[in-house]
Amino acid sequence: MHPLLPLCVFWLLPLALTLEEDSSLDCVPRRSVPYHRDNAHLFHEEGVFNYSTMLLREDLDLLLLGAREAVYALDLNDISKKLASVKWEVTQQQKDECKNKGKDPETECKNYIRILHQTEDNKMYVCGTNAFDPECDYMSYSKGKLTLEKKGEDGKGKCPFDPFQRYASIMVENNLYSATSMNFLGSEPVLMRSSPVSIRTEFKSSWLHEPNFVSMAQMPESYLSEEGDDDKVYLFFSESAVECDCYNKLLVSRVARVCKGDLGGRRTLQKKWTSFLKARLDCPVLESQLPYIIQDTYRSCDPQKHWKDCLFYAVFTPQSDTSDLSAVCAYRVSDISKVFAEGKYKTAVPVETSFVKWVMYSGEVPVPRPGACIDNEARKAGITQTLDIPDQTLQFIKDKPLMDQAIQPIGERPLLVRRGATFTRIIVNRVQAAGGEMYHVMFIGTEEGTMLKAVNYDGEMFIIEEVQLFQPPEPIKILKFSNVTGQLYAGSDYGAAQTPLATCGRSLSCMDCVLARDPYCGWDKAVGKCVFLSSSQRELIQSLKEGDASLCPDADPVKPMNRSIWPGGNLKLRCPSPSNLAKTSWERHGSPLTTSTRLQLLRDGLLILNATDSDTGRYRCLSVELSKADEYTTTVAEYQVSMATAGSGGRSVIPPQARMDGPSVAGLQVVVGLLLVSLLALLGWNFYKGHLPLPWNCRKKNREQSQETHEQGGLNASVKYQDALRPAPAEDKPLVLGANNGRNNNHTGEEAVAFSVEENDNPQATLPSLQYIDDESDI
Ligand SMILES: *[C@@H]1O[C@H](CO)[C@@H](O)[C@H](O)[C@H]1NC(C)=O
Ligand SMILES: *[C@@H]1O[C@H](CO)[C@@H](O)[C@H](O)[C@H]1NC(C)=O
Ligand SMILES: *[C@@H]1O[C@H](CO)[C@@H](O)[C@H](O)[C@H]1NC(C)=O
Ligand SMILES: *[C@@H]1O[C@H](CO)[C@@H](O)[C@H](O)[C@H]1NC(C)=O
Repeated sequence: MHPLLPLCVFWLLPLALTLEEDSSLDCVPRRSVPYHRDNAHLFHEEGVFNYSTMLLREDLDLLLLGAREAVYALDLNDISKKLASVKWEVTQQQKDECKNKGKDPETECKNYIRILHQTEDNKMYVCGTNAFDPECDYMSYSKGKLTLEKKGEDGKGKCPFDPFQRYASIMVENNLYSATSMNFLGSEPVLMRSSPVSIRTEFKSSWLHEPNFVSMAQMPESYLSEEGDDDKVYLFFSESAVECDCYNKLLVSRVARVCKGDLGGRRTLQKKWTSFLKARLDCPVLESQLPYIIQDTYRSCDPQKHWKDCLFYAVFTPQSDTSDLSAVCAYRVSDISKVFAEGKYKTAVPVETSFVKWVMYSGEVPVPRPGACIDNEARKAGITQTLDIPDQTLQFIKDKPLMDQAIQPIGERPLLVRRGATFTRIIVNRVQAAGGEMYHVMFIGTEEGTMLKAVNYDGEMFIIEEVQLFQPPEPIKILKFSNVTGQLYAGSDYGAAQTPLATCGRSLSCMDCVLARDPYCGWDKAVGKCVFLSSSQRELIQSLKEGDASLCPDADPVKPMNRSIWPGGNLKLRCPSPSNLAKTSWERHGSPLTTSTRLQLLRDGLLILNATDSDTGRYRCLSVELSKADEYTTTVAEYQVSMATAGSGGRSVIPPQARMDGPSVAGLQVVVGLLLVSLLALLGWNFYKGHLPLPWNCRKKNREQSQETHEQGGLNASVKYQDALRPAPAEDKPLVLGANNGRNNNHTGEEAVAFSVEENDNPQATLPSLQYIDDESDI
């Protein structure tokens, strides 16, 4: 971004206030789960792409999935089972017209399904971009068939023309609320309700200024309302800030809301919202001078509680590419509605010749309050519908739809920050843990095709795991949750995936199960397994806030494995730690090993180079993980290493020099040298980008005591991230080294070095992390 941007002083002040010492950024997932087809049920149809619209029909046990030129009805319990589908393709004539208007016939001139809602007659309303000529239709499902009625309704203002443009929509009592652009050029953004009376926003930059629509939600605010208030529809989006006196374009996140009963004004604001109010939404992420940009929201309401206790969770990404942090912030609905109901307005005042400046309006505010819904007080004054609102109030709101005050998240800081992953979507699930307490678990989709599962335990950010759902990595474009099946559904350009809320079986030991701090999982002593909470009647061991594994029974001793080496040969002993937060160490005959020229301590194992007699003996790999409660040590692996003798054991060991394809030691040195160079480049790049050093982290204490592999700030995070994308160790694919830090893909080319190293028992095992060792000797 431009150096002049810091001139946006209005933004800097609140930021300065958030620069707190204890801010904890850059949270690392405890467990990284590489892609595996058992991670999720997948759906993909040959030749069909862009699976980015979903509708859950729990009443029919269906997941409706909208893709390019097709809608699918999938089994809600297993989406790999297709029950029905219907094609909705553009005609050749439509394609030609679209092409003649300068659009790409192979991408833009297709029909992308963008809207799927249930209607009150149990049918579905579906809209598509239809070759830059949006159209809507009704669809029904019966006797295993999906049928489009071919009504050909105009989709203008409901569905975008441009398939690459973001939009939002919601169906409330059979009325479609949509936020999109209503013309071919994409220059007329609207928030619109199509029925019973069609009303929309004004085409004024003070209402919507180059917006990027994100999501919509409704709030039943009339329920038990003493003021006789109306229900509301909220819209989340980002736009160019009109109120910033900057030289450059500055994006801000917004929340806007309208009243459901709005019919527009009589003379002023005819067929326009009289209740459109918007406010800036802040998610103050330390390190950034520019506001973060909202990407998705999730409404989380406790059915037992008042609507005022509902929360909106939102994911944010930076607007400049100098940062690669993503964040989650949560907002109280009551805080948002208070700003709209009581806050001050902003007003434009002319300064000098052609400029206006947006300042707080401190003059008199007309009655009834501009932008308010019709309530008891208005009714008393004879105003029973928005058509009765006096012009003075309407003129005010027409000119000043922006509130002065910005909305701050709960705690005035993010719930979660992660470096190197770009958040795209979020779902939040409430779960009652073994101790009876309720937790909000966040499921976050990323641009890299992974899903994060995270909880904020009393201010401590904790990412339980990061699971790779799509391989090759595809951005997650939609995320839904069904409380009937208890399953999550994710859509990407390539396909759709279904996963359970938890796969507790990934923890094989009690200690791992407890230290995972997953509210859905607990250790069942009777069966000796980590199990899903609601699937067990027995008392389970769980310690979410503390990670206290002291109740765990002693783990079974690990069985030592036999390995042989050849004089001058190389051997890798694997030690896959279950946790990224753990520190691993090695012992030989009970005394600790340190890195030397012939012994390399890797992230996932120990590498012995140019072996000699002295390398034989009993090796043990320990994993030490620190939780709030204690430090826990587990033995991950044990090896008995002996010198190979001719015909020893069943294992045949070939001398290294006899191997056809194994790299010689000299070759290895070349590789190490290359790595060193690429590492220095990476390090330099990280310094240049300002990723190093990083003063904060997620689990400060933990990280400080962590081993060399955990001490490198941004570099470390990026490498971890790379690890997350690594295929399962068992798959033994060569690894591409050179950390790719999230969004900035343009660096991979120069840093990528692919290689593999020989291992006695595992000829294709990879050597993923030599850079740590080199790096350590560097520091
Ligand atoms: C649709 O999917 C294809 C293939 O993955 C992708 O290249 C394209 O950008 C997607 N189009 C939209 C509008 O998302
Ligand atoms: C699922 O959620 C809906 C509201 O979203 C609620 O009415 C219903 O009772 C929930 N069902 C279950 C099984 O929790
Ligand atoms: C390892 O070797 C020892 C003695 O050579 C033998 O007793 C033991 O069974 C072997 N263990 C395995 C796992 O093969
Ligand atoms: C391997 O070790 C031997 C002695 O232990 C030494 O002479 C030789 O140079 C070493 N080879 C390499 C490639 O380091």
